[in-house]
Amino acid sequence: MFEVSLRPVDTTDRERLWVWSNDPDVRAQSFSTALISHEEHKRWFDARLLDPFWRAWIGTEAGLQAVGVVRFQIQGLRAEIGVNVAREARGRGVGRLLILQGCIALFETGLITAVDARIKLDNTASVAAFRGAGFWQTGTDFSPPFPCTHWTFSPTGDPASAQPG
Ligand SMILES: CC(C)(COP(=O)(O)OP(=O)(O)OC[C@H]1O[C@@H](n2cnc3c(N)ncnc32)[C@H](O)[C@@H]1OP(=O)(O)O)[C@@H](O)C(=O)NCCC(=O)NCCS
Repeated sequence: MFEVSLRPVDTTDRERLWVWSNDPDVRAQSFSTALISHEEHKRWFDARLLDPFWRAWIGTEAGLQAVGVVRFQIQGLRAEIGVNVAREARGRGVGRLLILQGCIALFETGLITAVDARIKLDNTASVAAFRGAGFWQTGTDFSPPFPCTHWTFSPTGDPASAQPG
């Protein structure tokens, strides 16, 4: 059966995440679309590894092949999620599994009560992946430069914890 396992991001993932971040679709679907230099990535990555409010996992398939990353920035009792799937692994369910398993891993820490996602209006693959993982749409923001939809996931289904932060 098709399975994706998670392992925490560590120092060995620095180059891999840089390459994935500069994938054209990833840049196009991010809120900052410029290419990321190696120096800028190194500063960001090293700071994130020291940030107690940042958690990230690499998704691996059989043979430990890395197929994507799911990451969270925690703020208060909520976290904002980001996800990238390696180009060659897209379109076969990895994104949906990574989102779901990443949220489960984060909820297991007991640190948060809800996860929020912002998705650009034209990102149909992402909407389908988040919806398939159990997120529901909480709003739409049409303001430029990046109109987006807002999505939330909360295992309790508690309306109070599900209000976007
Ligand atoms: C968005 C992304 C994470 C989705 O991961 P994925 O592994 O390709 O998606 P999945 O295979 O899990 O597919 C999930 C759903 O999306 C649909 N889908 C996948 N690729 C699609 C595409 N190009 N266009 C439309 N729908 C698509 C699938 O059919 C599936 O829908 P279903 O559950 O109704 O069958 C991945 O495409 C990616 O990394 N994109 C670039 C970065 C990005 O957009 N990140 C998210 C920012 S919010």
